[in-house]
Amino acid sequence: MHYFQYKNGQLHAEDIAVADLVYEYGTPLYIYSATTLKRHYKAFDSAFEGIDHLTCYSVKANSNLSFLKILAQEGAGTDIVSGGELFRALRAGVDPKKIVYSGVGKKVVEIQEALFADILMFNVESVQELERINEVAAGLDKVARVSLRINPDVDPKTHPYVSTGLKENKFGLSRPDALKAYALAKSLPNVEPIGMDCHIGSQLTQLSPFMEALDKLKEFHGQLLEMGIKIKYMDLGGGLGITYNEETPPHPEELGKALVESLKDLDVTLILEPGRVIAGNTGILVTEVQYTKTNEDKTFVIVDAAMNDLVRPSLYGSYHRIASVREGNGEEMTADVVGPICESGDFLAKNRTFPKVGQGDLLAAFSAGAYGFVMSSQYNSRARAAEIMVEGDKHVVVRKREVYNDLVALEEDGLACIGRLK
Ligand code: LLP
Repeated sequence: MHYFQYKNGQLHAEDIAVADLVYEYGTPLYIYSATTLKRHYKAFDSAFEGIDHLTCYSVKANSNLSFLKILAQEGAGTDIVSGGELFRALRAGVDPKKIVYSGVGKKVVEIQEALFADILMFNVESVQELERINEVAAGLDKVARVSLRINPDVDPKTHPYVSTGLKENKFGLSRPDALKAYALAKSLPNVEPIGMDCHIGSQLTQLSPFMEALDKLKEFHGQLLEMGIKIKYMDLGGGLGITYNEETPPHPEELGKALVESLKDLDVTLILEPGRVIAGNTGILVTEVQYTKTNEDKTFVIVDAAMNDLVRPSLYGSYHRIASVREGNGEEMTADVVGPICESGDFLAKNRTFPKVGQGDLLAAFSAGAYGFVMSSQYNSRARAAEIMVEGDKHVVVRKREVYNDLVALEEDGLACIGRLK
């Protein structure tokens, strides 16, 4: 459930007409609904009420400071994967004791920063990383709390680019390797194994892969107990899918019920790292039609948003619902919605039927709150879009539209230095 609905023939973001926001801020424009964000967080978190748990929002889905601030105020922790995400989470006021740090490539300086911040734990993905964390912690005279990420070899039944829990994926350690790594962790003086972790993929639309992974983790938990290792945290990662088109993913409540039931006899705190299910339907990307053209085969609607603004359709062939901001009069068209970038892969939708639009009309791409702006770039020297947050009848700019100077701001020194190459 989200708060982007039609009223009086006009798409609204909560109580504000999208067209009014466009009048003020232009296009392309990301618009987020704060009420939807809070609602999604609460719906997710309350689904696990039956068990000790911590919801660590996955910052990569949408890392805008305003998002993180709202979620921190709601009591969320965060799942981070870089020094930059740690910086954002701390800046937004997230409690460091609720931060878990995932990712296969943590650098020394990033480990140091996280140790200084005293985060809850590192989700460790290799033996070398474990040894590095031990060394870095020793250098700072600290003990790092760690979880080992287990690759359970479970098929998440999703797009291959966002599957992470198969043995062909780069993530985590196989169970036999993880057992050895726990034994090593136990012997190292500056790491303390307090958890186990896995994340099998993203946009999961079935419950069974989660349960399969959990069964494997529970069995592993038993093996750890036999080795005298008692862990406090069981981190199941994120991955719950949303409806972009016709998918019917389980509701968080369904996942909650199943996990709580399965974990009730284990003395662990459950950690979850949801990203998309919290952020996905909190945002839309609004774009203006520049031109339309029709050849013998098809019609193109050329808009001012492109793959640099929303790359998911180009990268994964993802579906985003496209709708006209002004409700149609029943007349429809079938077209490719394409951007101005000089690549045929630059499209928001292909062969899509929607209310007929023409030059100057506005279109909205739905479900753009997760993996939307965060994956944007300046390709083709396109300044990034503005981001607006709406709550009720109020709105605020949460990231200004970039201007041409932003495109070259970091290059100006380069310009001055070019003479030195001679
Ligand atoms: N935890 C870890 C360790 C992850 O790698 C991810 C996502 C999450 C949590 C959050 O997963 P979620 O709940 O959002 O599914 N750019 C892709 C998605 C990449 C997801 C990467 N990892 C897309 O646009 O579909």
